[in-house]
Amino acid sequence: MELPEKFKSRMQGLLPEKDWQALAASYDRPPFKGIRTNTLKTRNEGMQRLVPFATEAVPWCPTGFYIDPEIRPGKQLAYYAGLYYVQEPTAMTPAEALDPKPGDWVLDLCAAPGGKTTQLACKLQGQGLLVANELVKNRSAILASNVERMGITNCVILNEFPERLIDNFEVAFDKILVDAPCSGEGMFRKEPAALSEWSEERVALCAARQKKILETVDRLLKPGGEMVYSTCTFAPEENEQVVAALLGTGRYQTLPVQLPGLTDHGVPAWTEEGNPAVAETLRIMPNHVQGEGHFVAKLKKTASSPVESRSAKQKNKKPMRFVSAKARELADFEDFSKAVGWSASKKDIVRYQDRLYRLPPDLELFRLSGLRVLRPGVALGTQKKGRFEPSHTLAMTLKPQTFGCCHDMKAEEEAYAYLKGEPVPAQNEKGWTLMTWNGFPLGFGKASQGTIKNHFPKGLRIYKK
Ligand SMILES: C[S@@+](CC[C@H](N)C(=O)[O-])C[C@H]1O[C@@H](n2cnc3c(N)ncnc32)[C@H](O)[C@@H]1O
Repeated sequence: MELPEKFKSRMQGLLPEKDWQALAASYDRPPFKGIRTNTLKTRNEGMQRLVPFATEAVPWCPTGFYIDPEIRPGKQLAYYAGLYYVQEPTAMTPAEALDPKPGDWVLDLCAAPGGKTTQLACKLQGQGLLVANELVKNRSAILASNVERMGITNCVILNEFPERLIDNFEVAFDKILVDAPCSGEGMFRKEPAALSEWSEERVALCAARQKKILETVDRLLKPGGEMVYSTCTFAPEENEQVVAALLGTGRYQTLPVQLPGLTDHGVPAWTEEGNPAVAETLRIMPNHVQGEGHFVAKLKKTASSPVESRSAKQKNKKPMRFVSAKARELADFEDFSKAVGWSASKKDIVRYQDRLYRLPPDLELFRLSGLRVLRPGVALGTQKKGRFEPSHTLAMTLKPQTFGCCHDMKAEEEAYAYLKGEPVPAQNEKGWTLMTWNGFPLGFGKASQGTIKNHFPKGLRIYKK
């Protein structure tokens, strides 16, 4: 691979000759590919049983696996069933380092396409709140479709400038992930654009932007809360120096990031202050591990300034664009939800644009006031011609054991035909039917007179096996 001259001279200046040679050689090898089990739906063994290819454990992520780079994991039935997320193996480290617990309030500030959001959701197991924010609109739509496929129930998706979250979520989060936009030196093998767009000016621009984002994070994180800052680049300006600047505020301390199989750390000598705490960060280089490379720092906010508690900033008005569901809509949904196996409390159901949503259990509506909200929770469905029509998102969150009417497709051919949008012959099903593959939802169908009409979304259909 033809590397930019300036990049080469910078790295040569930083690394011992042997390491630089090994790094340069690594750019000529194919990138590593990985998948991560969606533990909201299954365990590792359950996922492995249903994929037709070999997997090999990623040392630092208990749910991560290498796969052969020739495999196209996005074409498999198990992918459509949301049993795994396709993720580069070293990109699995930041969420492992943050390690939120069920019940935490977690913010993923730079979230699209959603690798780390979906990993954090697995750790939360549906409890607590996950706010996934993405600044770029079309990328936030991709994030939403990944959250949907994985069947996540406690996630709000926003499309905002980070600083616009401050009014609504001041010191509200227990844990924050900042997987920052960066110069992408670890993406050269995977994304040609990262290589062609690289410049020293871009490194400086990214560093300034990262510091600005972290100023916002300071306003959003609770005192005592923890954040992980990560990038997929190797430039000290965007890694060690950003961490050193944060430590310089006197409001943070580093926490050691210890993950199996990863032994390289941030380099204090690459900061102006030579702060030894920087050595507690992880610097993952592609010449040392099987992966593209990442930088991961974990920091605790030690400042104990007077804070507003989670509930202190209640405003007495509802956000304009949310309306309570009408009695008729709720009654129709309730009829449907008898088949769903759970019932949401009415106060948790809102109408936003033309859909009904169930808010995450912990979220009060005032939190979303004035923000660009893409999804305020799980889309339940819409009212069409006076009837409730369930959404695809809802299907992906359901458990066949508790849903009244299911049609399980064990034969691959039948499942692929469903994903192509074809009607499926009914057995004894009637009305809304959860279409499953080996017991995992793929979407809805509606059975009538011996045929199940296909409701798999047109935009997701596959046209070739
Ligand atoms: C490294 S990517 C995130 C990858 C994601 N965390 C994942 O695991 O799939 C960084 C994201 O930050 C977004 N971004 C760009 N500029 C930003 C800004 N000024 N503030 C916040 N996010 C920004 C980009 O659009 C991009 O989606």
